[in-house]
Amino acid sequence: MTEQKRVEVGLRRDIDALIDQAKPRNPHHLNNQERVASLVCALGEKPSLNVQTLRGLRMAAMLHDIGMVMIPQDMVDKPDKLSEEEFSLLRQHPQAGFDMLQHINFPWPVAEIVLQHHEHFDGSGYPNGLTEWEILDEARILLVADVVEAITTERPYRAASSLKDAVWEIANKSGTLYDPDVVDALTQLASSGQLTTGGSSWE
Ligand SMILES: [Fe+2]
Repeated sequence: MTEQKRVEVGLRRDIDALIDQAKPRNPHHLNNQERVASLVCALGEKPSLNVQTLRGLRMAAMLHDIGMVMIPQDMVDKPDKLSEEEFSLLRQHPQAGFDMLQHINFPWPVAEIVLQHHEHFDGSGYPNGLTEWEILDEARILLVADVVEAITTERPYRAASSLKDAVWEIANKSGTLYDPDVVDALTQLASSGQLTTGGSSWE
């Protein structure tokens, strides 16, 4: 085993332990991370990210909502619309995730990807309102994968939509909320039948 591989295996073990500790606090979001991780790998191959970058992207996807442990469970499961105050608390989870991960010596910018996973292409996202290429490639891919997973998964306050509806909804916001290249990759994957998520298939 190479030194780099040994470091990655050790990191993976530490991260799995971190996720296991966090899961009882927020099982939905932390289970969802595994499905998002599978999706980012499929999407990341289309824009031709190199293998190393893809590994970092997968690791960030596994951890992207780790900061949700700071959100009270009853708020996450709330069947009604969040209040302004609750939404403001929810918007702190990327920064909380960054704070938890920033001192881990990853060979990839995992903490920064986690920090940016709710930034939008047009600057309307959070926490820092970054735009276009200010946002890391990996974070632009992770956002789309996370939204696909969110739309196609049942939540306490709404039913799951089909993958086809999710892709349509995301394609409508290509170039505003989402990177057009990532949306193209998603559309190609979905229409070729290579994509399933949350129990949904293309049809
Ligand atoms: Fe998130």
